[in-house]
Amino acid sequence: MRDRLQTADSVADHDETIDYETVSVPVLVVGAGAAGARVAIALAEAGVEPLVIGKRDHGDAHTTWAAGGINASLGSLDPEDDWTIHAADTLDEGHYINDPEAVALTAKHMPDRIRELADWGMPFDQTEDGKINQRYFGAQSFRRTCFVGDRTGEAMLDALVGKAQEMEIPYRDNVMVTRLLSDGERVAGAMGFDMETGQFVLFRSDHVVLAAGGSSALYHRHSSRADENNGDGPALAMGAGARLMDIEFVQFHPTGMVGARYGEKWDGRLVTEAVRGEGGRLFNAEGERFMERYSPDQMELDARDVVARAIAQEIREGRGTDNGGVYLDISHRDDDYIRDRLPSMTERFGSLGVDITEEPMEVAPTAHYSMGGVDIDFATGDTGVPGLYAVGETVAGVHGANRLGGNSLAETVAIGKLVGEHVAEQVDDPTPTVSDGQRALAQREFRSLAELGASDGDVTASELLAELGNILWEHAGILRAESSLREGLSKLDALRDRTDDLRVEGDRTSREFEFAVDLSFSLPIAEATLRAALERAESRGAHYRTDYPETDDTWRRNILLSDETTGLELRTRGVADPSPAVQDAVDTGYELDYHHLE
Ligand code: FUM
Repeated sequence: MRDRLQTADSVADHDETIDYETVSVPVLVVGAGAAGARVAIALAEAGVEPLVIGKRDHGDAHTTWAAGGINASLGSLDPEDDWTIHAADTLDEGHYINDPEAVALTAKHMPDRIRELADWGMPFDQTEDGKINQRYFGAQSFRRTCFVGDRTGEAMLDALVGKAQEMEIPYRDNVMVTRLLSDGERVAGAMGFDMETGQFVLFRSDHVVLAAGGSSALYHRHSSRADENNGDGPALAMGAGARLMDIEFVQFHPTGMVGARYGEKWDGRLVTEAVRGEGGRLFNAEGERFMERYSPDQMELDARDVVARAIAQEIREGRGTDNGGVYLDISHRDDDYIRDRLPSMTERFGSLGVDITEEPMEVAPTAHYSMGGVDIDFATGDTGVPGLYAVGETVAGVHGANRLGGNSLAETVAIGKLVGEHVAEQVDDPTPTVSDGQRALAQREFRSLAELGASDGDVTASELLAELGNILWEHAGILRAESSLREGLSKLDALRDRTDDLRVEGDRTSREFEFAVDLSFSLPIAEATLRAALERAESRGAHYRTDYPETDDTWRRNILLSDETTGLELRTRGVADPSPAVQDAVDTGYELDYHHLE
């Protein structure tokens, strides 16, 4: 199958025509999580009725797995906080390669977005005097993370879906987009199939918004839902001519569950940062609170990259548990407090026979989030390809080299609203027609998918995806080096050769067919990750090169990737400076005093 996204043009024209359904809409939103929902609400508020499509059932999106909270400088407990300090913290932990405009827009708009979510029924935890409560989260100067226990994403998606339903925004579930409808100049819709019936579908629209998640699930050990975050969003965009940026920056969350202790199905699943935000402490197998050596001031609440590397080092140097983790302990806090603030953790570990009010959890780093993605203009969502916009984890820019916990949910709604408002202004044809050329492109795509479905070789897509996960984990993981990245690239080449021998068992409604399509997204994004990580000859945030352990100021640049006829092309671009107000906050140097928590 090779990289199907790159090779469909070579699928021969054929006399036989393939049946497909056609849907024509003013705006197509691909992705039904928080970002897609917020874009859709903004469109509907502006009088444009979009169609939102998602791969799973309505209301069931990856957002539901976001746990610990969402950032906004409300100052409920720390009145000195304001949006410029939120922006400064975001830039500082992003190691100053974030897009300063994206950061400012997110930080500035978040207080209003939180109040709006509360108005739409999101049941935020409240202080005794009735304000929205806020907790500590890693590397933030103040308590800024609003929360609903440790089920914040689920509650947020409920509120957004409820609002979308109230506005009667059309959703279509269980549809997988396989390629954007593009003539090479502009995007005019998307093509895919109904995952329940197998029916091919052509979505015709002059405006397509990609809100289809990131790519951290490409890694063997990851915190995403099974089979999501395989790179659909960035790969679809790159296949239509958009640029990717910062794709080498993959966030490893410090605390994923340890499969050897809790069972393979739990391996890598998130143990929310809220555990540390509520006072949780990390210990190695020798009983040492090792963060005292790595970060005596910020301790367990230093930035995720710092804590993840510290845990990885403890394990590598033989101070980990027999199961390959370290201990995370919150049992010193009051039992009722733990149950109230961490209901989902209490319940999940309880079901595994672990009472977290009494004993520690075993954790180790897990791939959690892609800071990289599509290069967009943040006020509009424009990708540079006419007709194509992107938002949420699909894009790069807000988080730079390392994301603050609680900023991903923030970005979805802060930027989602702006993108929806902008796209609404662009709509002039609510029911665009399908041209002959577009029909021909659709025939090619559906024939290519039919051929994919008929693959009868020896290796399944799930086997290849598992191997791909190992390649990235071993060669583009927490620690990277030139020799290992090069080895990863040659293993990836060998794996790509094996796709010629693919076997797809079952029809288009089968999981194996979905995995085969996933593979076509995952391969180019894995190559982009390895190539960009090789290019960036320095260490910065989540990208740690053992052969270049220092941050190099000349590398305060973004790496951009595009898919050209000759293959992936890389170039770099300098980063703009923040506004004077944000620069002042950066220069003031606010920092969390962890010892408040002790
Ligand atoms: O640990 C967490 O609850 C994750 C939050 C986030 O990634 O923003």
